[in-house]
Amino acid sequence: MRSRYHLQALTLCVLLALGCDTPVDPGLVETAEELVEITRAANAELGRVTFQEECASCHAAGDGFDLAAFSFPDSTIIRRALGHVNELAANDIVAHVRTLQVENLKRFGPVEGVDRFSRIFQPGDRQLQSDVDFARTLFGEDVWPSELTSAELALIDPTDIAVALRFPRWSSEESNLDWMPDTPLSEGITSYRPSNSGSKYSSYRVGATLDTYYKYRTDHALRNAVESIRIAERSSANLEAPCLVQFSTLFRPEECFQTRRWTASLIAQHMVRTGQSDPLESFLHNLWWDVGNAARKSISHGNQIDNATENWAMWMHMGWAFAPEMNSSFYLGEGLKRLGLRRHATFVALRSMVARSDGSHHAYRDLRNVVLFAPDHWVAEALKFGYKHLIDQLEQGKLPRRRYDLEVAYEKLISTQRNLAARKLWLAQYLVRPLHQRVMELLPEL
Ligand code: HEC
Repeated sequence: MRSRYHLQALTLCVLLALGCDTPVDPGLVETAEELVEITRAANAELGRVTFQEECASCHAAGDGFDLAAFSFPDSTIIRRALGHVNELAANDIVAHVRTLQVENLKRFGPVEGVDRFSRIFQPGDRQLQSDVDFARTLFGEDVWPSELTSAELALIDPTDIAVALRFPRWSSEESNLDWMPDTPLSEGITSYRPSNSGSKYSSYRVGATLDTYYKYRTDHALRNAVESIRIAERSSANLEAPCLVQFSTLFRPEECFQTRRWTASLIAQHMVRTGQSDPLESFLHNLWWDVGNAARKSISHGNQIDNATENWAMWMHMGWAFAPEMNSSFYLGEGLKRLGLRRHATFVALRSMVARSDGSHHAYRDLRNVVLFAPDHWVAEALKFGYKHLIDQLEQGKLPRRRYDLEVAYEKLISTQRNLAARKLWLAQYLVRPLHQRVMELLPEL
């Protein structure tokens, strides 16, 4: 790069000299000016504007911070930029990206360097080989440990526990297993006013809310922006919404997946930029989970996106690890199971269970999910753990209080036993029966 700048500077001098010495000839001057224009040095300010106009629609951070943060070399930025702009503008963008690093340092402090191939938020910073490897790494052997207590499980931080899933890279040119959305947000999203979906929502267009975020880059502005996008992509009041996941005829899987990745990448960039590795509010991480749900629904509606199951499990897992109390463990567990990761799925069910709010019906669903996911030789111990946790809760007076919670509790307890019978795991059934009966006794009557 350096020698090339020298060459450019040299050309500039020669041309200027030429311009001065040569008798005025309008044609020549014009040519000279044109040449001067093409060979000027890179200009970071122009690069900033060009980036906003030509790149920011997909590179959701808006200012190109992703290219700086993930250490993309100049040569790569230029190669990719040339797909959108000319060589001069590509050089401007490189200059801009390099100044961004300095500006961000001043505003938010140092950001830990990330490699362009690194998989941010990959728990434990490594991918394990297999489901059994996961169990051995976590528990020392391939069992659900009988001595593990609820309090101990609750202390295990899923954002630290290495798994056999491979989390997305920032950019992958070969597949859709990356953060980068392939397309910008559609006009149907950016021009939507969330208030059209209900008066409590913002009356600003989604695009305006995003501009506010780009201006201030606060947590609060991020929340407003992504909440607006969330409403616009899934509200049935928006005729252009791609993510009406419950309706086969209206759901557009690819577009929904891209929209949700766009939002997910905005949130991830915010975390990287501001140096936050602690969880943000659950709502934001749940939008990562939602990317996985778009992939899952693409399968159930028979219109699969590429790598649908991997995307399903990996995105849901990423959202779940930061907010394990949020969703039914069935969805992530089922994705893991399809990838042959039954031990992971069992862990997800029980780790979710100990994070549930008091008396939540979800804890009883988690119990039932254990029977759906656990490998045969795990079922007895994993179920015992689940039942004991429920007994503990009930004895402390943490009862399902709303009628709905109670109904689900009974239903899931019965279906746990039915599934156990269907799997013909008689010994496990025998071992957990007293615990099952104890839970039934402690539950309020329906
Ligand atoms: C239409 C959407 C879109 C636009 C506009 C866009 N990009 Fe990208 N960019 C992507 C996607 C998607 C990727 C991820 C890799 C892939 O899927 O090819 C990416 C990846 C990159 C990468 C990393 C490539 C690698 O080696 O992994 C660079 C650098 C980059 N873009 C620069 C730019 C610049 C500079 C501009 C503007 C001049 C720009 N992009 C405009 C969508 C876009």
